[in-house]
Amino acid sequence: MIETPSNPHSWFEWIQLIATICVPVVIGIFTIIQNQSQSEQQRNNLKIAAENRLKDIEIADRNREKDRWLADDQQKENILIDYQNFLANLLEKHGMTLNGTSTARLIARFRTLIALDQLNSARRSFLIRSLYEAQLISFQTVQTNNVVTEFESFDTLRSIVDLSSANLSGLSLGINEDDNDECPRECIPGVGIDALVLSQTQLTNAFFRKMNFQGALFVKSIMDNADFRCSYLNGTNGGLTFASSLLIHAKFRKTCALDVSFQSVNLDKAQMHGMICKHCIFRDAQINHADLDDVEFYREDENNDTFHDKYENINFTETSLIGAKFDHLSLRGTLFIGANLSRICIINCVLSRDSVQFAAATFEKSTLINATIQNSSFDYVHFIDSNLSGAKIFMSNFTHASMKNIDLTGATLEMCNFNDANLAGCIMTNANINLSYFVGSDLTGCQGITDVQLAQAKSIAGAILPNGTKISST
Ligand SMILES: *[C@@H]1O[C@H](CO)[C@@H](O)[C@H](O)[C@H]1NC(C)=O
Ligand SMILES: *[C@@H]1O[C@H](CO)[C@@H](O)[C@H](O)[C@H]1NC(C)=O
Ligand SMILES: *[C@@H]1O[C@H](CO)[C@@H](O)[C@H](O)[C@H]1NC(C)=O
Ligand SMILES: *[C@@H]1O[C@H](CO)[C@@H](O)[C@H](O)[C@H]1NC(C)=O
Ligand SMILES: *[C@@H]1O[C@H](CO)[C@@H](O)[C@H](O)[C@H]1NC(C)=O
Ligand SMILES: *[C@@H]1O[C@H](CO)[C@@H](O)[C@H](O)[C@H]1NC(C)=O
Ligand SMILES: *[C@@H]1O[C@H](CO)[C@@H](O)[C@H](O)[C@H]1NC(C)=O
Ligand SMILES: *[C@@H]1O[C@H](CO)[C@@H](O)[C@H](O)[C@H]1NC(C)=O
Ligand SMILES: *[C@@H]1O[C@H](CO)[C@@H](O)[C@H](O)[C@H]1NC(C)=O
Ligand SMILES: *[C@@H]1O[C@H](CO)[C@@H](O)[C@H](O)[C@H]1NC(C)=O
Ligand SMILES: *[C@@H]1O[C@H](CO)[C@@H](O)[C@H](O)[C@H]1NC(C)=O
Ligand SMILES: *[C@@H]1O[C@H](CO)[C@@H](O)[C@H](O)[C@H]1NC(C)=O
Repeated sequence: MIETPSNPHSWFEWIQLIATICVPVVIGIFTIIQNQSQSEQQRNNLKIAAENRLKDIEIADRNREKDRWLADDQQKENILIDYQNFLANLLEKHGMTLNGTSTARLIARFRTLIALDQLNSARRSFLIRSLYEAQLISFQTVQTNNVVTEFESFDTLRSIVDLSSANLSGLSLGINEDDNDECPRECIPGVGIDALVLSQTQLTNAFFRKMNFQGALFVKSIMDNADFRCSYLNGTNGGLTFASSLLIHAKFRKTCALDVSFQSVNLDKAQMHGMICKHCIFRDAQINHADLDDVEFYREDENNDTFHDKYENINFTETSLIGAKFDHLSLRGTLFIGANLSRICIINCVLSRDSVQFAAATFEKSTLINATIQNSSFDYVHFIDSNLSGAKIFMSNFTHASMKNIDLTGATLEMCNFNDANLAGCIMTNANINLSYFVGSDLTGCQGITDVQLAQAKSIAGAILPNGTKISST
């Protein structure tokens, strides 16, 4: 049953009363809300207007910038077109080798330098590429019968259009611009660039990754940060040289080089991890603070055991050469200071002094833990505070070597010659000195040498034993 209010009249009056009171209140509230939302609306409108103005300005700016860029780009395009027309006329008039008059080459050189100066790096690269294809910046291949020609002979070599002093920063001749620095371990040459001459140019940040250079001259160039990763450098017939160039921070990771000269270069902080270099010259190079882990530097010359590649007077301060392989190199006068040579492999190398030109190599504060040394000569070499623990050394000479305080813990020193070497204060715990000579060598204060060990040596005549006893020399 529906319940009806007991007094319908008073109920209705109540409603009326409440409504009467409420209407102004509701209107008031509505007005306030209305005002509020209106001012919010206004504010929003103002904000949108301001934003639109800003956007307009931005768009205008962007358009102006785009216009400027387009104008600039068009200007550069015109410079390139003008230059190409100029060159075409010049070549037509004076022949492809510009030998019509003596001034033709000079004019070409200066017009080229001016154009290069005004272009951006993409168009510069295009210009260089077209000069290369017209054979105006190459050198004639000279047959040198497999001998790496030293840089003196290339120093004055000029191409038809001489680019020396040009700023070619950021030059890119690479086709493959991707950042993938993986490359096959084997040396597989890609698309070739032959006999290019870029001597005495600025090539900072140049990009030559995965390129195949068959002869190239980079003499006295500024090549900091240049990228030769995975590239293939063959100087067998034409000659390929970086002599006297600055290659600070350059990247030669997994680069394969054959008959290449790096004489007197600066390769500080270079990344040369896994580089393979056959028949190269590194004489007088600065290679400090660099990464040369797992490099393979070697000469392959089956019929000539006495010939060594030129690696003399290199400065390897604080360089990492972990797992490197050196075979048939002359490392006379080379400095290994604070270098990490763990697991290095030195075979058929000479590090001793020669009477004419070079001092012996120096190892100072270097780590040669687990090194493999075979058939090499270290006569007169200094090992200052170096660690050769776990090294495997066979058939090598250390006569007159300075090896004070050297750590030879667990090392194998078989069939070696330590005659007149200074080994005072060495550590020879568990070292194997089977069939080695210690004639006249100084073992004063050496630790860990037992009579059983000494008995395995081929000869200790004239040596000073750890307790100071001198063996008679006969
Ligand atoms: C320029 O060189 C070409 C090819 O070497 C030669 O045939 C020509 O006679 C030379 N011209 C002059 C003017 O020397
Ligand atoms: C060479 O060009 C690069 C960029 O194109 C520039 O940063 C550098 O300063 C220039 N070097 C010289 C010596 O003018
Ligand atoms: C290097 O270049 C020479 C001469 O151009 C060529 O005969 C030789 O096959 C090349 N070597 C390799 C491994 O590509
Ligand atoms: C080894 O090669 C060097 C340089 O090519 C040469 O001077 C020397 O006579 C050669 N020695 C032998 C034994 O062939
Ligand atoms: C070798 O390089 C180090 C580090 O750059 C330098 O301090 C030292 O003077 C250099 N020594 C020689 C002989 O070049
Ligand atoms: C040298 O390299 C080895 C092998 O990577 C490493 O264990 C060792 O700590 C390094 N030594 C120094 C002195 O850097
Ligand atoms: C040296 O060789 C020993 C034994 O093979 C190994 O335990 C150690 O880790 C190696 N050390 C380095 C730095 O290669
Ligand atoms: C060591 O050198 C000699 C001559 O210098 C050579 O006949 C021999 O094959 C070399 N041994 C090794 C293991 O390279
Ligand atoms: C070591 O010296 C002996 C005698 O001087 C010499 O016959 C031999 O060839 C030398 N070996 C090496 C690897 O230098
Ligand atoms: C040489 O290296 C070994 C292995 O890392 C280490 O145990 C030893 O203390 C080092 N010797 C010296 C003299 O620092
Ligand atoms: C020393 O070398 C000889 C000849 O190579 C070998 O017969 C002998 O077993 C070696 N002795 C030790 C203790 O290694
Ligand atoms: C010095 O050491 C050797 C070999 O261990 C030994 O034969 C000799 O008696 C020692 N001499 C002295 C004075 O202790």
